[in-house]
Amino acid sequence: MGFIADALSRVKPSATIAVTNKAAELKRAGRDVIGLGAGEPDFDTPENIKEAAIKAIRDGKTKYTAVDGIPELKEAIAAKFARENNLAYKPSQVSVSNGGKQVLYNALVATLNPGDEVIVPAPYWVSYPEMVLLCGGTPVVVSAGAENGFKITAEALEAAITPKTKWLIFNSPSNPTGAAYTRAEVKALTDVLVRHPHVWVMSDDMYEHLVYDDFVFTTPAEVEPSLIDRTLTVNGVSKAYAMTGWRIGYGAGPDSLIKAMAKVQSQSTSNPSSISQWAAVEALNGTQDFIPKNALLFKDRRDLVVSMLNQARGIQCPTPEGAFYVFPSCAGTIGLTAPSGKVIENDEAFVTELLEAEGVAVVQGSAFGLGPFFRISYATSNAALEESCKRIQRFCGNLR
Ligand SMILES: Cc1ncc(COP(=O)(O)O)c(C=O)c1O
Repeated sequence: MGFIADALSRVKPSATIAVTNKAAELKRAGRDVIGLGAGEPDFDTPENIKEAAIKAIRDGKTKYTAVDGIPELKEAIAAKFARENNLAYKPSQVSVSNGGKQVLYNALVATLNPGDEVIVPAPYWVSYPEMVLLCGGTPVVVSAGAENGFKITAEALEAAITPKTKWLIFNSPSNPTGAAYTRAEVKALTDVLVRHPHVWVMSDDMYEHLVYDDFVFTTPAEVEPSLIDRTLTVNGVSKAYAMTGWRIGYGAGPDSLIKAMAKVQSQSTSNPSSISQWAAVEALNGTQDFIPKNALLFKDRRDLVVSMLNQARGIQCPTPEGAFYVFPSCAGTIGLTAPSGKVIENDEAFVTELLEAEGVAVVQGSAFGLGPFFRISYATSNAALEESCKRIQRFCGNLR
């Protein structure tokens, strides 16, 4: 028996982090590499938020805080849910953690027993199935293809539910596809959940503010208020306020779940950084001007990338509703030969050869549960996007 826990052998390391590392390694070796793998805005955190953090340090707000968040932040979060999502959570129903990632993980640790099933629509954010496995649960993957806009149907959800189902993890707009569910599409799914009272929903709304073309964001507990007692609504400041490094995410749900999550956090990390919490108070209570400005920039980048990719031979790129990702198909390149002489057998080979030949780092769709696709994060400058799309066009054009 090895020293490392068996649970870890079931879990894969993050493919997105692997691509980012590989790109960094090639850069260090002197290669001209454009990384389109990382899922974080390239903008700087707004000044008012930085100032709030500096003030917190100067004011001595540098001690341990309540485990799952300072009261001021919980109030700001409850006010945000009321203002933006028509959700009436009390501050005591809010939990603050080190990023949205820890909120999701705490909730799974707090609820999963061995054999419990968690429905994960695919393509999925890489961490969902791995977190479920780490917590001893069983991920039940429900696939949604490009033909359905990468969104699962009510029928597929219904078919995946068993007596062992504990959660549906719902993510809209989605990482990796950018697909976002309309109100009617959310309602179709919540109608199924209403019929299965043992199933809870974990709604990961991290990309809420990144929706384009007048798309209206909705979240399950807003669409179907009767689900409020079995919904964990998860969000955070990472993507909306360009605060990935500050590590603040939050969730709101029934008191019993929130208390259980605080118990997990009290015995693992304790409170998230006091300084980051004060910065998050300013992010949520201060001016929101930053958000629509950024969304416009992202929309232009999305349009640029979609248009240029659709001009690449063998690539088909749908136009996503939100987030800062596109998820094109590379099916038209499978079976062709790359400049290295290797045959593109699948999406993994496509991204490897693309990185080798043209120095463009993207992530294979199979890492997110659906091939032959790949994910591009367009959270980078227009110049870098234009150059990388040109390289992708050249790479595809050179395949034989
Ligand atoms: C869908 C989704 N959920 C959650 C997270 C985690 O965000 P945070 O940085 O707040 O932990 C990410 C980050 O990439 C994400 O893409």
